Amino acid sequence: MHLMNRSRVGGLGALVMVLGLTQVVALQLGLRTADEWAEILERDRRVSGLKIEEVVARLGLEPGDQVADIGAGTGVFSGPLAQAVAPGGTLYAVEIDQELLDYVNDRAGRENITNITAVLGEFEDPNLPSRELDLIFFHDVLHHIENRQQYLQVTASYLKPGGRIVVVDMIKGHPEAGHRDQPEMQISPEDVKQWMEAADLRLVEEVDDLFENKFFVAYGR
Ligand SMILES: C[S@@+](CC[C@H](N)C(=O)[O-])C[C@H]1O[C@@H](n2cnc3c(N)ncnc32)[C@H](O)[C@@H]1O
Repeated sequence: MHLMNRSRVGGLGALVMVLGLTQVVALQLGLRTADEWAEILERDRRVSGLKIEEVVARLGLEPGDQVADIGAGTGVFSGPLAQAVAPGGTLYAVEIDQELLDYVNDRAGRENITNITAVLGEFEDPNLPSRELDLIFFHDVLHHIENRQQYLQVTASYLKPGGRIVVVDMIKGHPEAGHRDQPEMQISPEDVKQWMEAADLRLVEEVDDLFENKFFVAYGR
């Protein structure tokens, strides 16, 4: 496994010190340290409800595909996505926090997965090393990005012709949606449609039989 841009930022803590907390919060909503994220993201109850196998199956990936897992966290989806594109494919696990990329790398090592490339992204650009992506996947992430329309526009520039962006996220206003005290952290499929259309992307698929509380949409050119 490779690690991109390792020397540029030594973890979110360093970034917070350099930029000041308020500026970081303004660019990424719901800021947490890597250890706090790991504790939340790896809870058995959360992981068992993600339907990881079913979600990956619905993505229709093929060996050789290039895929990005934006906001990979500790990598609960990165390994299954990497396995779905092997042999010959690459999974780029993108994070803004180097310490989370370390979690992803450790997990991949334990699971003997060799086709994950960890990528240190920026708040407004995933910094992917390829512009030939078949699929760019956002699971439980887009609501954390403050400038969503701009981020999607930049991200779309990494797709190959025929490539897709998939967003799976909690439905704004659903009783089970998180961040009820921060309405700006809830997003709807209609919001996503508007941002995608601004990036010249149109809805190509919607999965509505897996979750009641989440939407699962795919956009392409
Ligand atoms: C709720 S977690 C989801 C993690 C993983 N996708 C999952 O479902 O287990 C959101 C993640 O998005 C990351 N994140 C937030 N803003 C980001 C950005 N602009 N670029 C990349 N990652 C970002 C956070 O660091 C965090 O790990």
